Amino acid sequence: MQLRKLVRGRLEWSRLESVVRELARRYDRDTVHVRFLEADNWLSTPMVIDDEFFVKVVTEQNSFVHTLFTTSRNIGAFSSGTEGFFGHFGTPYQMAEHELEATERLREIGLNAPEPVEALEIDGMGVLVMEFIHEFATLGELPEEVERKRAPDVFAALKRMHENGLAHGDLRAENVLVVDDEIYFIDATNVRGDEHRPEYSMVSARSYDLACALAALEPHIGARAAIAAAASAYDTEELLAAREFIDFVSIRPDHTFEAAELKGELEKHAEQAERDDGRV
Ligand SMILES: Nc1ncnc2c1ncn2[C@@H]1O[C@H](COP(=O)(O)OP(=O)(O)O)[C@@H](O)[C@H]1O
Ligand SMILES: [Mg+2]
Repeated sequence: MQLRKLVRGRLEWSRLESVVRELARRYDRDTVHVRFLEADNWLSTPMVIDDEFFVKVVTEQNSFVHTLFTTSRNIGAFSSGTEGFFGHFGTPYQMAEHELEATERLREIGLNAPEPVEALEIDGMGVLVMEFIHEFATLGELPEEVERKRAPDVFAALKRMHENGLAHGDLRAENVLVVDDEIYFIDATNVRGDEHRPEYSMVSARSYDLACALAALEPHIGARAAIAAAASAYDTEELLAAREFIDFVSIRPDHTFEAAELKGELEKHAEQAERDDGRV
């Protein structure tokens, strides 16, 4: 498909080489060892340098794709009756800088995230350098029983993010890492805060996050367990607000889950909560 070719074209070797040379110079190394990671390359080319730095290279093309993605997601958000709440961050360098700052903010509020090193502009590309995490499993890679155990921690961490006025914006199983039983958030490309933004749009961004987290867990641990875990951090009203975003999340190609099941279980959960309330 033409569009696929256009948006997903590989970064030419010569341009990558200029990035690697500049990093070698900055970090005072005569030679560096570069390893490329399995990735989709839609939004960046990730690589590991000297088993020490995780580097994401963002090209002009990647930043263009990000605009396309956020525009179409905003169209989706409009059609589900909400103001568009996905931000786009201009040039490749601005994208890298945004992710660096967003990752710093996550760490400032006590959440785990890779340590950010720097964001650079090299030959028109944005280059984000972070700590390389050696051993981890993404949320989706965990055995079911382990994922079940960690699920409440995912929502506790998400709640902390939300209480501190931030929203992740791209919560998928691949963007949540488990390192020594701790939850790490990565890929903070769309993380945003509520400064200068209307409050209702942040409410939507939180509900969207919550819907995404449920959608990420449902395929592995089932709708009921995912909702029970979410209910340990979020109240029924918040869960019902997330329900409104389930269909919107399910039309995205990078989320595959049982939307009807999740919505049905959310309703059952709310009804049960109401009955429980009536008893006290
Ligand atoms: N700091 C890190 N250390 C080690 N591996 C990482 C790190 N950050 C991300 N990864 C791995 O690389 C993958 C892609 O990184 P991510 O930031 O999600 O970029 P993308 O924008 O391509 O999705 C992740 O799913 C994870 O497996
Ligand atoms: Mg990712």
